[in-house]
Amino acid sequence: MAEPRPRPYAAVRLDGDGFVLRAWRADDLDSLLLHADDPLVPPGLSDRFPHPYTRADGEAFLAGHVVDPAEPLLAIEIDGQGCGSIGARPGRGDRAHSAELGYWLGRRYWGRGHMTRVVATYLDWVVPALSLQRIEANVMEFNTASARVLEKNGFREEGLRRGAVLKHDGLHDLRLFGRLWPR
Ligand SMILES: CC(C)(COP(=O)(O)OP(=O)(O)OC[C@H]1O[C@@H](n2cnc3c(N)ncnc32)[C@H](O)[C@@H]1OP(=O)(O)O)[C@@H](O)C(=O)NCCC(=O)NCCS
Repeated sequence: MAEPRPRPYAAVRLDGDGFVLRAWRADDLDSLLLHADDPLVPPGLSDRFPHPYTRADGEAFLAGHVVDPAEPLLAIEIDGQGCGSIGARPGRGDRAHSAELGYWLGRRYWGRGHMTRVVATYLDWVVPALSLQRIEANVMEFNTASARVLEKNGFREEGLRRGAVLKHDGLHDLRLFGRLWPR
């Protein structure tokens, strides 16, 4: 049998204003499916996030087969339920000071400022924890809400990656956002 992969962030718990950020757990499966299996969540995400989001997809994710458990990926818990996720994927070698940010939240919680506060809380932890100096995020051109979340967290828009994503409805541009520490 394969050795279980290390989960260095399994004990992390960050208490925010109206939410908790903590590691995903096997008992999150039902709430994960409730919030992830929604056609309005994945369009702005990479196709690692499937639709429909099946029980098998949820089990594979919680078992650490989709995102490497060595990455600082945390669940967003609101009202006692895991209902979203935030993570930063660090680069390697001369990019190891930098990480790419990604996040999603269940639709029932949108538009209340949650993700703006989640990103702030997460960055306050992950930047020193991983000795990062840069965080970047790629936002599909139609995803105005995500771009606002980044702007409100001090990110600058750095450019446009034209036609960088091919979805079923054609090519999409990616707006590149970045923030440096110290600013
Ligand atoms: C993007 C997402 C994380 C936003 O979460 P949220 O908790 O609703 O975000 P907040 O409430 O903190 O902030 C949203 C901001 O976008 C604005 N906004 C929302 N929808 C908008 C729209 N269609 N056009 C313009 N602005 C919009 C809000 O007014 C708010 O800005 P404001 O505070 O200046 O008024 C959430 O919609 C989501 O999970 N979407 C699906 C996954 C996804 O796209 N992830 C990001 C990939 S880069």
